[in-house]
Amino acid sequence: MIQQYILDIIYIVGAFSFIFGIKLLGKPESAKKGNFIAAVGMALAVFGTIFLYKGENEMHLKNLEWIFGGLIIGSVIGTMMAKRVQMTQMPQMVSFFNGMGGACAALISLVEYHHVMAVDSIDVMPVMETGKAIVIYLGLIIGSISFAGSMLAYLKLDEKIKDKVLPFQQVFNIGLMVVILGIAACSIFGWVAIPNSLYILLAISLLYGVLFVMPIGGADMPVVISLLNSFTGVAAAFGGFLYDNKVMLFGGILVGSAGTLLTVLMCKAMNRSLVNVLIGNFGGGAKKGEARAITGTIKEITKTDAASLMKYSKKVVIVPGYGLAVAQAQHICHELEQQLEANDVEVKYAIHPVAGRMPGHMNVLLAESNVAYEKLMEMDEINPEFKSTDVVLVVGANDVVNPAAKNDPASPIYGMPILNVEEATTIIVMKRSMKAGYAGIENELFYNNKTRMLFGDAKKSLTELVAELKNV
Ligand code: TAP
Repeated sequence: MIQQYILDIIYIVGAFSFIFGIKLLGKPESAKKGNFIAAVGMALAVFGTIFLYKGENEMHLKNLEWIFGGLIIGSVIGTMMAKRVQMTQMPQMVSFFNGMGGACAALISLVEYHHVMAVDSIDVMPVMETGKAIVIYLGLIIGSISFAGSMLAYLKLDEKIKDKVLPFQQVFNIGLMVVILGIAACSIFGWVAIPNSLYILLAISLLYGVLFVMPIGGADMPVVISLLNSFTGVAAAFGGFLYDNKVMLFGGILVGSAGTLLTVLMCKAMNRSLVNVLIGNFGGGAKKGEARAITGTIKEITKTDAASLMKYSKKVVIVPGYGLAVAQAQHICHELEQQLEANDVEVKYAIHPVAGRMPGHMNVLLAESNVAYEKLMEMDEINPEFKSTDVVLVVGANDVVNPAAKNDPASPIYGMPILNVEEATTIIVMKRSMKAGYAGIENELFYNNKTRMLFGDAKKSLTELVAELKNV
């Protein structure tokens, strides 16, 4: 009895550590601590269950050699992967780990189906309580979709597989989902006896996971991964119901709701609906060519002029974007910031919520190069400051500084909140060409009278700028 009380307390502590950990993850400076606290809570819950849980007939958990074998192998593989992964491969790793979570949830359903059947059945007719059946079948379906979808997302992000849209893909996917729900309902409520329905559902759900993710554009993957993440959370929560394990239920619900919120926030920050992302159509149907024609000319600037303009400024704001990640220019960017500060220039970074290709992409890159957290300003904080900024240095960003989002209702990104860089005195844009960004549209900022283009790879240009700064 006393063991059960201790276990309950451990579960409460575990649950609070998850909430507190997530809260601390909200800020870069406290994120490491948050991760650690949540991990300690999870470890407590796992070891508490292993040593204190008593199941049927007051028996402790058996198969400890299997449990510890799995724990050790999983921990070694996880640690090695986390140590070796490059920052740019983070989305792949998140996707891979998420897939593992989905697979676990599906396996729990498969194993527990036979266990529950054996315990609940009367001699001749195998039966299962409807509540348990719902939990088992839904856990299996959602976990399998999440596993297959996440593994495909991992392969696509790693560029091992390309996006592919089959003819009538959406109709086929909807049909497949109807079949899945039909078989599940027949089996759960016992309407029609379908032999091996669980295994049939496993196969169709895996297929659905693949077909669901296959047509989605590579750059939309972060949104899909976040959605699949919420699926895994829900599937894990079903496991919590099944085992009557509060901390598992709690953790699953937290992951499910956090994943859903992140999905919604990402879509909102891109001004796109989830349906729009899922059917791979940027801009809710606005066709190319509909957007307002841009007039004006492109004006270039030399590195020497750019360096002296910044050196004699009071305030410079750097706007990093996807190009910074592609060029891996974060370290040299930090060096530029230090050079400017050595010349008494105030330097800040303007971080757009969807700059780059994953949530927090720019924060992670800049933290990697030791840029101080307090220099990273969120969009709402920095936008009022552009008016008093002498130079804005746009490093490989495009859509997140495109004024069409504010003033061209026909633009596919109309309505997306952007960084108001055009309010600064001068804007220097670093990119390799006049090519469009993720949204595939032209940017009138590049034609603005106050804008100067500095063409070239961001890392190379920044390196030359730093050298110039040392000279001028
Ligand atoms: P983008 O609009 O994609 O523009 C990036 C720019 O970087 C391109 O125009 C490209 O121009 C330039 N570039 C690429 N490689 C470069 C290099 N080596 N050196 C210099 N420049 C380089 O990026 P953004 O402004 O960060 O906007 C992000 C976009 O991604 C948004 O549309 C957002 O909705 C979308 N998105 C974001 C997320 C998340 S969660 N962050 C998820 C999905 C989609 P050149 O080719 O001419 O060099």
